[in-house]
This record gives sequence, C-alpha cells and structure tokens, in this order.
Amino acid sequence: MNLTDNAIKVLEKRYLVKDENGSVMEKPDAMFRRVAKAVAQADVQYTSPDELQNIEQEFYELMANLEFLPNSPTLMNAGRPLGQLSACFVLPIEDTMEGIFESIKNAALIHKSGGGTGFSFSRLRPKGASVNTTGGVASGPVSFMKVFNAATEAVKQGGTRRGANMGILRVDHPDIVDFITSKRDNADITNFNISVAVTEEFMKAVDEGRDYDLIDPHNGLPVGKQNARAVFDLMVDMSWTNGEPGIVFIDRLNKDNVTPEIGQIESTNPCGEQPLLPYEACNLGSINLSLMVKKAGNKADVDFEKLGRTVRKAVHFLDNVIDVNKYPLPEIDEMTRGTRKIGLGVMGWADLLCKLNIPYNSQKACTLAERVMGFIQEESKKASMELAEKKGVFPLFDKSIYREKGIRLRNATTTTIAPTGTLSIIAGVSSGIEPLFAISYIRNVMDNDELLEVNPLFKQIATIDGFYSEDLMRRIARKGSIKDFPEIPKSIQSVFVTSHDISPEWHVKMQAVFQKYTDNAVSKTVNLRHEATKDDVKEVFEMAYRTGCKGVTLYRDGSRDAQVLNIGGVN
Ligand code: CDP
Repeated sequence: MNLTDNAIKVLEKRYLVKDENGSVMEKPDAMFRRVAKAVAQADVQYTSPDELQNIEQEFYELMANLEFLPNSPTLMNAGRPLGQLSACFVLPIEDTMEGIFESIKNAALIHKSGGGTGFSFSRLRPKGASVNTTGGVASGPVSFMKVFNAATEAVKQGGTRRGANMGILRVDHPDIVDFITSKRDNADITNFNISVAVTEEFMKAVDEGRDYDLIDPHNGLPVGKQNARAVFDLMVDMSWTNGEPGIVFIDRLNKDNVTPEIGQIESTNPCGEQPLLPYEACNLGSINLSLMVKKAGNKADVDFEKLGRTVRKAVHFLDNVIDVNKYPLPEIDEMTRGTRKIGLGVMGWADLLCKLNIPYNSQKACTLAERVMGFIQEESKKASMELAEKKGVFPLFDKSIYREKGIRLRNATTTTIAPTGTLSIIAGVSSGIEPLFAISYIRNVMDNDELLEVNPLFKQIATIDGFYSEDLMRRIARKGSIKDFPEIPKSIQSVFVTSHDISPEWHVKMQAVFQKYTDNAVSKTVNLRHEATKDDVKEVFEMAYRTGCKGVTLYRDGSRDAQVLNIGGVN
C-alpha cells in the first residue's frame, strides 16, 4: 500500500487496533479489511453471500487504493465494539437546567466516540433574565458555553480524539455582543469554534445602515435594538483579531433544508460544513481527486469515468454506514435513520490542479471546479436514486421537499465538503478544496532534529526539470512561498501557488463554486496575510454573502497561537 510515513504515524496513533498495553496490533491493510467487512454487512439482506463478498472487496479496494476514505470515526470504530461511525452531530439545548445538562452529557458520549458536536445557544434566555423557580437571574448563553467547554476538556483524555464543538448564536439574540467577543481571550473556550447565525434581515439592515431588533428567544418579541453595522464591524474586528467568530448564513441553510416539516436548522457541526437538525448525525467521506486523472497523449485530464464509478461506490458505502452505525442515543438513531443524510466530498483538489497545470487562483480552476463538483453532485443523486429503487427511499421522504418534486432518493442529502484534516494526511494529499499550504517546510521532530518535507509532486517535477536541491527547498521553506526564486520557471511558480500567495477573493470564489454543487456546506478557511486589514476581512464577509456561500471562516496568519482544529495536526 502506498502510505507515507506520516500516514503510518497517524494511523498508529489513533486508528489501528491496539492491545491493552497500547501496542499496535493491526496493519493498515487489516484496518481497511475490517472497515470494508463491517460496512458491507448492511447488504446482507439484499444480496447473496457471493455478491456480499464482492461488495466487501469493492469497498476494501476503494479505501486501500486511497481513492475514497470515510470520515475518521468510521475508520476507527467500524467492526469494533464502539461502532460509532459518524463525525458530525447537532444537539439541541433547551432553556432549562435539565435541558442544558442533558445536552452536556450527550455531547460527552459523542466525544468519547470521536464525533464532533454543534449547538445553537440561541434558545437560552439572555443573561440577567429571571429564573422563575429560584427567583434568581440567568447566566446567559456565553456562560453556559464555558460549562460545555469544561466538560469537553475533561472528556478529552479518555476519548478516541479531542472533542470538537461548534457554538452558534443568532445575531438577533440579546447577548450577541457578549458572544462575538467571547473568544477575545484565546485561553478561553478552547474546545469551541464559534459562529454567528446571521439572518437575511440583519444583512439588509447592514446594507441600509439601520438598527435591527434583538429578539427574546422565549416569546419571539423584540426586546431591544442594535445597530447592524456596529455589530457587523465587531464581528469583523474579532475575526481579524483571532479568526473568530465565523459566520453562518442561517436563512440560507434553512432555504436548503430538505425536511422543513421536521424542524429548523439551528446549527452545523464543528467545522461548519454540515448543517443538521437537532439530534441528527451525518457520516462523511471524501474522494481523492488527485487520483482521478488520466493521460490523453501527453496531456493530463480529469478521468470522469473513474470519478463516476468512485462516486457510485462511495455513495453505496456511506449509505451502508447509516445502517451498521451504533448511535450514541435513541433520539439520534431515529433522526439519522429517518433522513439518511450522507456527505460525500473531495480532497486533493489542489493536487489535481497541479497535475493538470492549472493555477488555483484562475478562472480555469473555477470552471473545472464547476465541472468536477457538478458531476459529483449529479452522479451522487443518480446513485442515491438507484439505491432507493433497491432499498427504498429515506423513511422521512414524505416530509421532504422531494415528495412534491417526485425525486425518489435514498438520502436526504448526498454532498458535503469536509476539511479532511486527518484523512488528507492518510491519503497523502492536499486537504479538502484548500490550496497547497506549503511547497516545503521544516518539521521539528524529537531531539530537535529538523526534517525537511517537500510536496511530492513538486519534488518530482523539480527533479525532472533539474532544479531540485535540498538547499533550494530549505530556502523555500524559510520564505513560505516559491515566488521570486529565479531558478524555478515562472510557469511552475504560478501552478504551485500556496495559500498565502492566493488573494482572499480567489479563496472565496473557489468556495462559492463548490457550494453551488453541494447540498450541505463547504469547509474552507480563507487565509489572509498577517498584514491584511479589517477592510479586507469585511470584504471577505460581504463577498461570501454575495456569492452564495453558506458561511465563512477566515484566518489571518499569526493572529492566533492555537486552533481547535489544526490543519495537518492530529487532534
Ligand atoms: O479528516 P477527518 O475525517 O478526521 O475529519 P475532518 O474532515 O477534518 O473533519 C470532519 C468533521 O469531523 C468535523 O467537522 C467535525 O465534525 C469532526 N471532527 C471532530 O469532531 N473532532 C476532530 N478532532 C476532528 C474532526
């Protein structure tokens, strides 16, 4: 199998089965066998034993060839006693003591199994509101978020990986200012990403420069006003300072809610790519686009035939995961099996562009993104329809928008672009739809040894073209970009463009194109240079809104020491 040293390290640390002394007992190959076997079991009632074998083999090859990988909990837990296979959950928080602490308990159970949780704190009464039973006053959403944070911190050690949370508050909640500034001190609330749920009404008020109403979550009545531009500027300010809060365009998430009769979408999962109903879970998986290439003469092109085959197998795989999954709560079991949402996405997009000689920051790249993601979306729907014919539509189909449309699907949603923080390390490719992070960098290993890591594709091309040298790679690592190195041909400089060489506009443009063909949302960090101004941040927010993104997260280089989820880090 074609695994890099880093991939093996990551797998050994968290994924492979260990004995009671912590020694690794499983080889990566056996891990893929274990997962394939467990996931194929969902077909027992639909196929012959021979056919079941074929399905298992197909799933195994899909993963072992690194063409597709399911989200981490599936790799970690399938075919093992825990059996919890989803990465994404959203839990409701009712405005009662019982409700709040019930939610904390449920989050702990989910974290233990490697899942991440998203919460909306919007239903909680504001700070200072009265508490009937005690005659006291409420502490408010931000204060309770700290309790959730502390619980996560305590569970961290025992679980499969560090628990991640998303905290969301509606922009019209009376405590919105407290919430926006809640992460000003970086040491606080470290296990949460936070996002403001921005409404259409708010964006209109920003545009018109007027006040908007703050709403009492209990009765829906206005209880005060804020100036929309002032609140918007505060979000810009904080985001510029330390990358948070992000924004989710909540009305847009609900416009695309395919089962509005069942409930409203209030929150997403921790990295923002998966809006879900309360108690809903979703399992994700990503296709490695870097391997979807064919040579036509001496020109490389996307291998759409292979991609189509991969999408169909991946949808089958992810749909099976829903059935063999062991859910941590009965409510989650019922909701998740009811809508049967899956989130198929991609990784290795930047690597694919390099192989095709297309700069990430170009119209050509955006046009290709339209074709590739448009194709994946269409094929995933076809695959879901075929599954519906064989196994039936999702149980809550009659409460979905698809009933009216007469589109019989097995899955309420099929596509999501995940960050693939660890999956991309396992596959050895660029993460999600992000640009290359670095061409070469120095990794500090034990005993202060320095290890030079070079993008494998770049190394290959540089070697063939005769300009590879370790000295050059070290100089590139120090500069963090390959721009302005005369020994590197200009054409290569423009194709191997890294995150910070790409203007924020291209980051948002790429996110918007992928969003156009994705049911759920797109995980993307808009990277800004350290020198970026608050106006740059504002422009990113406004552009994300204008171009139809469902949310936006940005990060200005050097503005924060630690992140909840570090790209490239094993949490
Ligand atoms: O690459 P991998 O499948 O491990 O995860 P990802 O694509 O980086 O993240 C997908 C989702 O997994 C996140 O949005 C979270 O919901 C969840 N996650 C988590 O709960 N805890 C982590 N440490 C990493 C991811």
